[in-house]
Amino acid sequence: MSNNELIKLSIEAKDLARAKYSNFHVGAALLAKNGKVYKGANIENASYGLTICAERTAAFTAVLNGETEFSAIAISSDAEDFIPPCGACRQVLAELCGKDLDVIMTNKSGEQKVVKMNDLLPYAFDENFL
Ligand code: THU
Repeated sequence: MSNNELIKLSIEAKDLARAKYSNFHVGAALLAKNGKVYKGANIENASYGLTICAERTAAFTAVLNGETEFSAIAISSDAEDFIPPCGACRQVLAELCGKDLDVIMTNKSGEQKVVKMNDLLPYAFDENFL
């Protein structure tokens, strides 16, 4: 699947966001190595800290479907700038999806910037410390 196709799915996922407090809608589409795609969107809560980001809903859904190997995640929002995963999502994606994951960040104009997970979270805390 091309980056552009994955981005299109992340834009579709953005419509699933429940973001009535921030009004900031985020969509994610996570591509497993077997070709399957798992969508995610942010889901907010009146107890704000319980909000979950788009990237983590996608990653957790994929894991619950038995996926262990991933190639890329596309992230979309309505922001002018490229949307990067937050710190909590970096930690979760690095562990569940691997440091080699391509993170495809998009902006409102439909441009893309691709970075490796390892470049977004160098020196990650992982199972080797436990
Ligand atoms: N959000 C995401 O879904 N992903 C990110 O990478 C950054 C932030 C959500 C969380 C919250 O619902 C809203 O965006 C504003 O922070």
